[in-house]
Amino acid sequence: MDDSRETLAAAPKVIGIRRLKEPMPTPLKTRVFTVANQKGGVGKTTSAVNIAAALAMGGLRVLVIDLDPQGNACTALGIERESIPGMFEVLVNDAPLGSVVKKVAGFPHLECAPADRGLANAEVNMVSFVSRENRLKLALDTLLQEREAQGQRFDYVIIDCPPSLGLLTINALTAAGEILIPIQCEYYSLEGVKLLIETVEQIKRTQLNKNLEISTIVLTMFDSRTRLANDVADSVRQHFPAQLVDFPIPRAVRVSEAPSFNQTVMTYDASSPGAIAYMSVAREIARRGAGITNNTDATNNGAHTA
Ligand SMILES: Nc1ncnc2c1ncn2[C@@H]1O[C@H](COP(=O)(O)OP(=O)(O)OP(=O)(O)O)[C@@H](O)[C@H]1O
Ligand SMILES: [Mg+2]
Repeated sequence: MDDSRETLAAAPKVIGIRRLKEPMPTPLKTRVFTVANQKGGVGKTTSAVNIAAALAMGGLRVLVIDLDPQGNACTALGIERESIPGMFEVLVNDAPLGSVVKKVAGFPHLECAPADRGLANAEVNMVSFVSRENRLKLALDTLLQEREAQGQRFDYVIIDCPPSLGLLTINALTAAGEILIPIQCEYYSLEGVKLLIETVEQIKRTQLNKNLEISTIVLTMFDSRTRLANDVADSVRQHFPAQLVDFPIPRAVRVSEAPSFNQTVMTYDASSPGAIAYMSVAREIARRGAGITNNTDATNNGAHTA
């Protein structure tokens, strides 16, 4: 009898706190990721919120910045964004980032800076500003310093971007140290990535952010049964061996259902294949951030469980 769907149709609100038994390693310093790909619908938001949720379950302090006027990250994190101040206020009206940040229910240390309704107008409003590309960076640096001074340093900041290379995405690329690119294994996926790489080179050349690095690539909505998906995955493995986190996220119903219950798949169905894959990706990101390489695998696992 397939009654799982019925139970989940009335998915309970997130109650209690999700925390893994085995914590994830803390990075040496705060890592700021921009999740970018100007192609629409490739799994940017899904990857941003689920990796953030998984890192938070691993005991790390995580901030998600929803920089997409669509506000999909807020939806998945259960943040009601109708009448609250958010990133428009920060970018356009100089509101401190800390004043708009909200705690996400169900996680020990997961917070979200919401995309407010006005964010759709932010790019137009910012055009005339001096250093309009630096607005997010300034706001974020201030918040990071405040939290550090309070002994509550963020381990990860994950910025979700709209599917364009406009001023919002440029702000995110200026504020971040690293880029996480979700790649859907389809026709033309790598074409889009080339354009993004050119933009990154330009940002580095114009001195907006000299140290920006494409550090992480995740394969999304992967269907291992198709030849095309496998071919694209092989090609990514070849071109980006160091950046690819090689736990492809399977195309899975639970992943796409979760946001309609205002949840990440990590709380909606933690034992589903999508959640397990995102957990593996997050754990690998955390390991890399702590300087743990594959060669030291056994030693470090041993140290953890000892
Ligand atoms: N692993 C998956 N399995 C099934 N569906 C998925 C998976 N990942 C994402 N989706 C679905 O695909 C759609 C696009 O995903 P998502 O919103 O994360 O992409 P995006 O790149 O953020 O889109 P946009 O460019 O509009 O911001 C959503 O409906 C999402 O639920
Ligand atoms: Mg999105």
